[in-house]
Amino acid sequence: MFLSGKGKSTVGLDIGSSSIKLVKLDHGKDGYSVSAIGIRELPPDAIIGDEIRDREAVIFNIQSLIDQTDPKIKDVVVSVSGHSVITDRFTIDLKTGPEAEQAILFETEQRAPFDVDDVSLDYHIIKTDEDINKMDVLLVAARKEYLRTYLELIEDCGLKPTVVDDDAFAILNAYEANYEVDPTRVTALVNIGYDVTNVTYLAEGLFSATRDVSAGAREIFDAVQKEFRLNPELTSKALKGEMGDSIDQDMFKATIMSAADELISGIELAFSYFRSQTKIENIDWIVLSGGGALIPFLPEFLQSKINIPLELANPLRNVDYDPELFQFVQPEKIAPLLMVPVGLAMRKNK
Ligand SMILES: Nc1ncnc2c1ncn2[C@@H]1O[C@H](COP(=O)(O)OP(=O)(O)OP(=O)(O)O)[C@@H](O)[C@H]1O
Ligand SMILES: [Mg+2]
Repeated sequence: MFLSGKGKSTVGLDIGSSSIKLVKLDHGKDGYSVSAIGIRELPPDAIIGDEIRDREAVIFNIQSLIDQTDPKIKDVVVSVSGHSVITDRFTIDLKTGPEAEQAILFETEQRAPFDVDDVSLDYHIIKTDEDINKMDVLLVAARKEYLRTYLELIEDCGLKPTVVDDDAFAILNAYEANYEVDPTRVTALVNIGYDVTNVTYLAEGLFSATRDVSAGAREIFDAVQKEFRLNPELTSKALKGEMGDSIDQDMFKATIMSAADELISGIELAFSYFRSQTKIENIDWIVLSGGGALIPFLPEFLQSKINIPLELANPLRNVDYDPELFQFVQPEKIAPLLMVPVGLAMRKNK
């Protein structure tokens, strides 16, 4: 899945179903610093899940975002997620070179809901254990057809995708670069997007598993829009807390909570699946990111329903930036939204 390119700064372009986010990070000796940042909201139905419904609108918005932030940008790191992509972790006998690839291909065939000839594969060896002659492999498989359509779209914006990553890895990268990973605690990184919520687990200080829950903030967005009879623009403002007292706050809270039910059950289900698969009893804490982390009342409500300590992620914790770059928003207020693009921008261009 890796393509070519080079450079000392990297642009992460996160094409979400609600908004497009761009972060450019300079990779210096002393760490990372932000040199460009931009967010642009998409019309509500331009992308639904991993399906691009309005290609022109998406291209227009990507190009506008580039023009606004840094028109010289060409190379970008992008990510894929959703139904056309699977990630999995498994243990196989210790092998190297073509033999390892054969074994990984075989395992993929057993797992992928599609023909392996139709997928692009990428894998990482997480750890090897010489004593028992085994290795843990992390696999990402993306449908070629989907990947091609996606890459063509980015090229049609006049850009060059240098690396294709996966949302879960970007989230993991952003987390590891900003926090000390505590090997004694099981962490669930929960990224609530518009259509997809990605849950990635860390145990014993290492990646353990990842799952996509097919629910996100869209339900909440739609419920608020309907309840208060707003257009999409005003709904988005309401969710950002910019409507103040012009909407009834008790009603607003009640609407968000009842619309969050499906999302919260989805996350609970993912957690119990993880517990049963790994025999790990306790998830010690949740680190919450994505636009969903910024929705009023949602983090507290999630924490009280699931009953696990929760913290908001700050992917800029160890990153230098000039607050002026963020224009009208306070960086620390929107930081959780930038988990994926920051993680992408931490990749080295290949
Ligand atoms: N500043 C903010 N304050 C409150 N809510 C916000 C803010 N920014 C975004 N949101 C809400 O978060 C939701 C989507 O977040 P996000 O941008 O993470 O989704 P996405 O990446 O576009 O979607 P996906 O990852 O599912 O494709 C939207 O419903 C939006 O209303
Ligand atoms: Mg997203």
